[in-house]
Amino acid sequence: MLLLQVIHKWLAFSLFFILSINAVRYEPNWKSIDSRPLPQWYDKAKVGIFLHWGVFSVPSFGSEWFWYDWQGYHRPNFVNYMKNNFRPDFTYEEFASKFWAEFYQPDKWAELFKKSGAKYVVLTSKHHEGYTMWPSKYSFQWNVMQTGPKRDLLGELAKSVRAQNLTFGVYHSLYEWYNPLYLKDKSNGFATNEFVRFKIRPEMEELVNVYKPDVVWSDGDWEPTDVYWNSTDFLAWLYNDSPVKDTVVVNDRWGKGTGCKHGGFWNCADRYNPGKLQGHKWENAMTIDNYSWGYRREMTINDVKTIHDLIYELAKTLAYGGNILINVGPTMEGTITPIFQERLLQLGDWLHVNGEAIYESNMWKYQNDTITKDLWYTERAGFVYGIVLQYNSKIEFGSIDYSSVNSVTLLGCNDKVEFIKSPNGHVIVVFPNLTPLSHAKVAYVFKFVLNQMNF
Ligand SMILES: *[C@@H]1O[C@H](CO)[C@@H](O)[C@H](O)[C@H]1NC(C)=O
Ligand SMILES: *[C@@H]1O[C@H](CO)[C@@H](O)[C@H](O)[C@H]1NC(C)=O
Ligand SMILES: *[C@@H]1O[C@H](CO)[C@@H](O)[C@H](O)[C@H]1NC(C)=O
Ligand SMILES: *[C@@H]1O[C@H](CO)[C@@H](O)[C@H](O)[C@H]1NC(C)=O
Repeated sequence: MLLLQVIHKWLAFSLFFILSINAVRYEPNWKSIDSRPLPQWYDKAKVGIFLHWGVFSVPSFGSEWFWYDWQGYHRPNFVNYMKNNFRPDFTYEEFASKFWAEFYQPDKWAELFKKSGAKYVVLTSKHHEGYTMWPSKYSFQWNVMQTGPKRDLLGELAKSVRAQNLTFGVYHSLYEWYNPLYLKDKSNGFATNEFVRFKIRPEMEELVNVYKPDVVWSDGDWEPTDVYWNSTDFLAWLYNDSPVKDTVVVNDRWGKGTGCKHGGFWNCADRYNPGKLQGHKWENAMTIDNYSWGYRREMTINDVKTIHDLIYELAKTLAYGGNILINVGPTMEGTITPIFQERLLQLGDWLHVNGEAIYESNMWKYQNDTITKDLWYTERAGFVYGIVLQYNSKIEFGSIDYSSVNSVTLLGCNDKVEFIKSPNGHVIVVFPNLTPLSHAKVAYVFKFVLNQMNF
């Protein structure tokens, strides 16, 4: 009798357990996949670092699209670059033998990213060239361990990044320009998907099982549809059964037409910064070198975003509810060029003072000011923050009524800030007399305590 009761209870418990697990299983269709709530860490993090690194970092000319610009599009500047500098029969694959990464110190990179104020780091695990930055079993030796640096560049970075308490993620290109299996499926009008079954799916499962990335940032999806890529099946596995099922976030590039529509957060287009509300979590993936994701040696100072440009992007993105993913391209030697280091450190200095308006912030009822240009708003813990990109001795906050303001402070400065009423009832903040006026060169943040009525 007692034994039966125990068995009965155990069965009931097991049944409950099985049912409760079943309740959160996702099915391989967009309706189910899209219904998954975005893990909270992602929206709180706001700022990430994007790294485009691969064999393309060896020629480091033009952009990470070098191979295709040269042998796909036959663009004259690429064709001539090769003609003028290499033997006539030099192949792209040969660049990999020069990919040594001999100065690569992932701990130093991770320290830099930590100091930049970013909360997550996303590395290209494989770009469209097909070369894997980890020793993949499915790469036919076209990987970091067998061809090139002979080190697991990705695995080492994952470890170093996590040692800094930053979140590690991967970019992954679905298509590969010159993979014979892909080209075969393509010549069949994508009626076959051998490339996906024998290469992409096992490769992605390996990547996730071994390195447990908390971001899977998909790309190279645009020629066939998500049905060819079997994307919803992969995502159902990722969300139900993978080692990162509860924490992983993904973007929206899972097949022709899925961008800005399906998946996790939306990337839509490169450097997406729509300047209007999206009604869905989104991310602005952008570059510090305005013209390339991969490192290019011909980059000049005129191509590089200033810290002011960068904070402007950040503010405009955050105000509309986006995350910002800031890209730098490491060199083939495994270094991050000093101009990128400087930008990231400047960002970190700024965030050190102004981070309370950024991390874990929300959109406020206004995103940018109705009167003053380049003035963006966020809200956090009941405070309203105005991020001001243009210095002025008096700043009118056209979206804030004078009568609603209890007090104003400038982040990084303890004193209360003087404010007055504008002729039409808004608040005008008098810029405090600071020496040195270091904030003004970049962007400064005013914090408002508003009375409940007008919040
Ligand atoms: C990471 O977080 C742990 C636990 O909160 C803490 O003990 C450790 O000091 C942190 N490490 C760094 C580098 O911030
Ligand atoms: C999608 O993946 C699943 C699991 O590997 C497999 O059973 C199914 O046949 C795949 N579908 C296509 C169209 O390849
Ligand atoms: C880079 O592009 C942005 C627009 O996204 C522009 O405002 C900025 O002036 C450009 N910077 C450089 C150095 O070209
Ligand atoms: C800021 O808001 C105004 C409306 O007050 C709008 O017309 C303008 O386009 C916005 N500016 C940007 C850059 O989004």
